[in-house]
Amino acid sequence: MADDTILRPGLRPGAVVLVTGASAGIGEAVAEALAAKGCRVIAAARGMDRLRAIAERIGPACHAFELDVTDPQSTAGLCERLPAELREIDILINNAGHDIGGRRRFDLGDAEQWAHIIETNITGMIRVTRAVVPQMIERGRGHIVNLGSIAGLRAYPGGSIYAASKFAVRGFTSGLRADYAGSNIRVSEILPGTVRTEFARARLHDDEAAAEAFYDSFETLLTAADIARCVVFALEQPAHVVVSQLVVVPTSQW
Ligand SMILES: NC(=O)c1ccc[n+]([C@@H]2O[C@H](COP(=O)([O-])OP(=O)(O)OC[C@H]3O[C@@H](n4cnc5c(N)ncnc54)[C@H](OP(=O)(O)O)[C@@H]3O)[C@@H](O)[C@H]2O)c1
Repeated sequence: MADDTILRPGLRPGAVVLVTGASAGIGEAVAEALAAKGCRVIAAARGMDRLRAIAERIGPACHAFELDVTDPQSTAGLCERLPAELREIDILINNAGHDIGGRRRFDLGDAEQWAHIIETNITGMIRVTRAVVPQMIERGRGHIVNLGSIAGLRAYPGGSIYAASKFAVRGFTSGLRADYAGSNIRVSEILPGTVRTEFARARLHDDEAAAEAFYDSFETLLTAADIARCVVFALEQPAHVVVSQLVVVPTSQW
């Protein structure tokens, strides 16, 4: 008899979920939403103090886990570093990302910052996926959700490197979906417009006032909880349905 868990949607109570970049913003909201759905959530990022506080708030369903997606050692051995009961990851949310030093015309940019954006948003996402996907293949099921952006559909002035990174997320996600088509490993991309998180503060080197002014310049903005709802929607589809791309913008954006 077929294992009926194969036919059940990926989002089921007890499913193990790894969320990268879970110490703030969208990742934190996704961790919270999935724990509320009964998943066992591995909340991963570099900032352990914040992760521990989040895990404490969410409760025993959430495990704080130190992970720097730009560090090959940190990512390659990630499954081995997890507690035994959390090693079989059913759902991977590739969310860690930033645009440090962004919103600058290309020739005014800083090469080290470009490299870090690319290392985090592209190479890091690929590394984490490489570490997790073999056991999904072995078990014949899994769901990978990558955080793209509307910047991966159309660039804007001052965003050449960030847009390049998010175009790459779109290409990688599309390639993964093609590789695992028909295998019960589903691959989705969520492409948000502007979301009020700590993203602008990181981009603007911790200048909180400038970050607030940036967000306040929008008539409407998305919240991290809006994106968490989109992730849950993608994960809750029946087993034969793949949300390939979900583009979501606030009413003042297009
Ligand atoms: N906010 C928006 O308007 C928006 C729109 C579209 C798409 N997105 C995408 O959504 C994702 C989340 O962004 P956000 O808005 O939630 O930003 P955020 O509030 O700044 O959170 C970013 C998260 O990424 C983590 N992170 C950064 N570098 C990392 C690394 N090397 N290894 C592991 N974790 C790392 C940070 O944690 P630590 O610093 O503790 O590691 C933090 O938890 C990003 O991929 C972003 O590109 C955001």
